[in-house]
Amino acid sequence: MMEQLFKGKHFITLEDWTKEQIETLLKVSSELKALFYANTPTPYLLYKTAFLMFFEQSTRTRNSMESGLAQLGGHATFLDTSTMQISHGESAKDTAVILSSYGHGIACRNCFWGVGNKFIREMAEHATVPIMNLQCDIYHPMQALADLMTIREVKSETKNLKVSVIWAYAKSHKKPISVPVSQVLLFPRYGMDVTLAYPIGYDLPAWVIEKARKNAKAHGGSLTITHDMKEAYKNADIVIPKNWGSWVTNQSTAVVDDLLESNKMWKCTEEMMRLAKPDVKYMHALPADRGNEVEDSVIDGPHSIVYQEAENRLHTAKAVMAMTMGDK
Ligand code: CP
Repeated sequence: MMEQLFKGKHFITLEDWTKEQIETLLKVSSELKALFYANTPTPYLLYKTAFLMFFEQSTRTRNSMESGLAQLGGHATFLDTSTMQISHGESAKDTAVILSSYGHGIACRNCFWGVGNKFIREMAEHATVPIMNLQCDIYHPMQALADLMTIREVKSETKNLKVSVIWAYAKSHKKPISVPVSQVLLFPRYGMDVTLAYPIGYDLPAWVIEKARKNAKAHGGSLTITHDMKEAYKNADIVIPKNWGSWVTNQSTAVVDDLLESNKMWKCTEEMMRLAKPDVKYMHALPADRGNEVEDSVIDGPHSIVYQEAENRLHTAKAVMAMTMGDK
């Protein structure tokens, strides 16, 4: 790789990364994707190791990181935190210092509300290797980076693209707000006109909206908030209907409540998709709650790019690891 490395730089939120740095990550992601397709070895992290700490379940994130590091010539150790001394109260500091001395990177998923981001930042304060956020209560930068890569693959221009981040009904678990937060912060930096649509009670934090608006102003995008689902679908270029929990207004961990049940109609249907532009793309970070968040005919239909989006998690994860953990 010819690019300037970001050795040791933490990857906690893309808000800490300049557009120029994100461009480099995207360029490296695309190069790694092409090399993967060509079956060309990419030994940029030969013999390097990273620790993947998971407080929660994962399919895409865990496997893109594990496979990704192997494909870069290194090894990832999966750590179920319920089997670590953290579960007996060992501190984030001690964990970070010790794992730093055993390898070259530490990645962590901790989505507990009010806890996850603080835990990851505390590790970052004491680690001597890059800390990678694999999703916390506030941010999911790996997902947002893959989403941006995917949008740029399917749309030649992001400026004034109408991208609608839309709340959707689901009852599989009370999901973090980190995906929509990361999207509304990032996409306006690329000139996108983001519409955030949700039923009252599913607000994102006020500081997120304020920051997203600042990002939009600085880069020619916009952020519109609506509680009208149809307005979000109307003339959209990209729709991202996805559930998130009412964490800001209600910290209960109960999955199903009256507010949720009163919003069952917030589903991505073919009828809704017909309101969007004819070439609209449907995205979802996955896993999707099929039949609740979205009709099968939409997620499996011609507008859906969810598998491309999920695949790009591999290439972007490899780029982040190669650029923050690498020597050359
Ligand atoms: N989108 C995402 O982060 O998927 P997993 O929860 O399976 O990692």
